[in-house]
Amino acid sequence: MSRFSGQAALVTGAARGIGLEIAAAFAAEGASVAVADLSLQDSAAAASGIAAKTGAKTLGLALDVSKEADCQKAVEETVKAFGKVDILVNNAGITKDNLVLRMKEADFDAVMNVNLKGAFLMSKAVSGLMLKARSGRIVNISSVVGQSGQAGQANYSASKAGLIGLTKSLAREFAPRGVLVNAVAPGFIRTRMTEGLKEEARAKISELIPLGRMGEPGDVAKAALFLAGGESAYITGQVLSVNGGLYM
Ligand SMILES: NC(=O)c1ccc[n+]([C@@H]2O[C@H](COP(=O)([O-])OP(=O)(O)OC[C@H]3O[C@@H](n4cnc5c(N)ncnc54)[C@H](O)[C@@H]3O)[C@@H](O)[C@H]2O)c1
Repeated sequence: MSRFSGQAALVTGAARGIGLEIAAAFAAEGASVAVADLSLQDSAAAASGIAAKTGAKTLGLALDVSKEADCQKAVEETVKAFGKVDILVNNAGITKDNLVLRMKEADFDAVMNVNLKGAFLMSKAVSGLMLKARSGRIVNISSVVGQSGQAGQANYSASKAGLIGLTKSLAREFAPRGVLVNAVAPGFIRTRMTEGLKEEARAKISELIPLGRMGEPGDVAKAALFLAGGESAYITGQVLSVNGGLYM
């Protein structure tokens, strides 16, 4: 039997990048997986790609995590398809970088609404089910810059630091019912989000990383699966850094 056989996972922002890798990893370990992202076309394509590769049951869902009704509907559709939600991964995230002097209020709000409010809304949407079941796992994808801060990313780093506070508060609220909530804080991972970096910036970043390279989406997926699995049954409210030693 595989590690997540019989379990149902819902992963947001899962049509590409880290989220897609996490969704595929759960499916490869036996879970049924709901792939949720902004466009139904993209999430359905990702879901069928994962199903073809792993043989797992998958479902593509369209949602904007910053909208409460979308979050509730995504959870309802997952329950309709798989009967439950054992694992929620709040992975959807965006950047709108600029120096504070030039950052527009709308860009601050947009990043907070997706990265922080989205995780709150999704967690709220699954909370009734998980608390009633007296089991469940929530894994929030934060960031190293939520721990260290970053010039040019005041909105993003504030949202990711907020996500750590949200993780700890949810962990305290849900622990009495056996629902565990943790965060993963990735460093610089090779995805579309970091694709825009110039080669020079990439080389500079790698120099700062003790392990000497950027991470891969699979490095983050392994941490998310650990925090959703049986090996982490006595771990809640924690932040697992997956950053090659960039921030200690
Ligand atoms: N790539 C990195 O170096 C890095 C480092 C630390 C943390 N992270 C975090 O990891 C997560 C995944 O990042 P990635 O690098 O794979 O990025 P990505 O841009 O490749 O993927 C993000 C996904 O989220 C989806 N998304 C965006 N807004 C959404 C919304 N409102 N509702 C639903 N889905 C939405 C996008 O459509 C996309 O599929 C993000 O939360 C990001 O902040 C990434």
